[in-house]
Amino acid sequence: MTKILVLRTAATGEASVSNKLIDAYLAAHPDATVVERDLDKNPVPHVTSASLAGIGRQAPEGADFAATRALQDELIAEVFDADLLLIGLPLYNFGMPSTLKSWFDYVARAGTTFQYTANGPEGLVKNTRAILAQARAGKYDDTAGFPFAVAHTKALLGFVGVTDVTVITAEGLAFGPEAAAAAVADATAAMAALA
Ligand SMILES: Cc1cc2nc3c(=O)[nH]c(=O)nc-3n(C[C@H](O)[C@H](O)[C@H](O)COP(=O)(O)O)c2cc1C
Repeated sequence: MTKILVLRTAATGEASVSNKLIDAYLAAHPDATVVERDLDKNPVPHVTSASLAGIGRQAPEGADFAATRALQDELIAEVFDADLLLIGLPLYNFGMPSTLKSWFDYVARAGTTFQYTANGPEGLVKNTRAILAQARAGKYDDTAGFPFAVAHTKALLGFVGVTDVTVITAEGLAFGPEAAAAAVADATAAMAALA
């Protein structure tokens, strides 16, 4: 049975298009085991001077970083346990939501999810693939280097070893209600059709 880790990142709740796309995939795969991590309702804290040492290769002993380390261990365990990462990707100022970036800041841990070798970095999350459910107001060409959300997310996933990444996009959502409805319908159908 496929184990799916769902990462919801939208700040728009019920109205969220990326969440609708995620829901379409889950509805089409009712037999999957699903773990949900809603980074809007329960965000991973930003890395600060108070937490930085806790997320490194080896956290210092003692209580100061215990909570940070426990959260990081939990997030990483969810990734290793998943066959599929199903990630909501609203486009925010041409990039991924900062909630998702914070999640990556915790999950990319040297010696655990990646390691440095004589040939450069090697991702250690094997046998996990990802689907990005992207939503955005404008229309763009993701192969042109701008905007950065897909390229950045793919780079971070690849860095930890997740190289099989499928992207489904609902775009042009600000181009009027009819265009938006058509874009959501197309992308929802595309999500439901994915293996
Ligand atoms: C803070 C913020 C920044 C945004 N920046 C962009 C942007 O750079 N380009 C774009 O096309 N849409 C942008 N949007 C629009 C969202 O991508 C769009 O509303 C999308 O549907 C959000 O995903 P959601 O429906 O899952 O919440 C932005 C929205 C917000 C709230």
